Amino acid sequence: MSRRLKNTTAALRHGWHPVARSGEVADKPVAVRLLGEPWVLARLDNGLAAFADRCPHRLAPLSAGRVDATEIICGYHGWRFVASGACTAIPSLGPGVPAPRRARAIPPWGVVERHGLIWIAPAEPFTDLIEIPEADEAGFDSVWLEPSRSSACAGLLADNFLDTAHFPFVHAATIGAGEDTLVAPYRVTPDGEGFVVQMEQRVANPEDPKVATGEHPLVQRRWSTYVYRPPFMLRLRLDYPDAGMINTIQFCLQPEDEGSTRIYTRLLRDDLGGDAARMAEAARFEQAVLDEDLALQERFDLDGLPLLGDLPRADPLRGESPRDESGRGASGRGADADLAEEVSIRADAAGVALRRALASLVDRATRLPARGAGQPADDRDRLRTTAHRTEFRRTTSR
Ligand code: FES
Ligand SMILES: [Fe+2]
Repeated sequence: MSRRLKNTTAALRHGWHPVARSGEVADKPVAVRLLGEPWVLARLDNGLAAFADRCPHRLAPLSAGRVDATEIICGYHGWRFVASGACTAIPSLGPGVPAPRRARAIPPWGVVERHGLIWIAPAEPFTDLIEIPEADEAGFDSVWLEPSRSSACAGLLADNFLDTAHFPFVHAATIGAGEDTLVAPYRVTPDGEGFVVQMEQRVANPEDPKVATGEHPLVQRRWSTYVYRPPFMLRLRLDYPDAGMINTIQFCLQPEDEGSTRIYTRLLRDDLGGDAARMAEAARFEQAVLDEDLALQERFDLDGLPLLGDLPRADPLRGESPRDESGRGASGRGADADLAEEVSIRADAAGVALRRALASLVDRATRLPARGAGQPADDRDRLRTTAHRTEFRRTTSR
């Protein structure tokens, strides 16, 4: 039977997940959801902190409390916690009485702020955060879309972002107008735990100002480079060499619950010259494209992304179909069973790579020795968490 990756699959704890825009966390604790669990984010005087959103005393949500300097204070009985989770005061015990050993708020393995987002890794992540090189390049303007929320699971939305064959059908009113239905063979290159997809296309580029003047043709070359990092971090760079334009899209997903995914999209473009009106128009257009995608994705009757386990003998990444025409599968019984839910073709090579990368993440998590749900297992882990936080404080620019 094939496996599906749901928004609450436990293996996803071993990844970095965006949980808020940077500007959404100010001086009050903020409640967020991740993998079906509640977390609280807080800006303490000595940096950003995150905890499971349950006070160890009576399990009240810490997000209902408040921040005081370097501590978060539970709103129910006033217990105080520092960023490590240690309880520093229990008012009802009186001053100077040590807290019980188990009176600890539970931090994630790591919390960082980067790329305009706050990220949590509940357990030790298998991959680093995705890089967004354009964010540091001169000449690029950056514009965020308002975060969207979808009932589709994060796996499906990531797959949709990597899929190009749907452009002429789903996006006939926007980017897909007049696009060729043929998807030319393209390259998928493994890159760490993720991969890079490179395509060369010919597309209409009406945003090139030299099209209107007749200096450039409307249909131009476009080099598309997708970078994927598990579990749900993506970036797409579109190079238009004829127009000399670069348009990058950062697309990162927060699997909140089954039936709820939050979507963070940022555009980084070098052709807008800092023009606020053009940036706003670019964001409106991208939102329209995303809305077209979501309208279809939300109609899928799938609670998760079907994963690919055993490598099929026929390899779509090499331009071969993993199933034969009869549908029996070209790859033996085990792989056939894994592929049973979907039929992949050459054009789906990026989506096949996604299913494999996520299957590999799940397999790796399954092989780990069992321990408490994502909590640091011992002092060594605890120290690493602290070291990670220190590193974060050094590197974050906000
Ligand atoms: S429930 Fe948090 S202090 Fe009692
Ligand atoms: Fe799309």
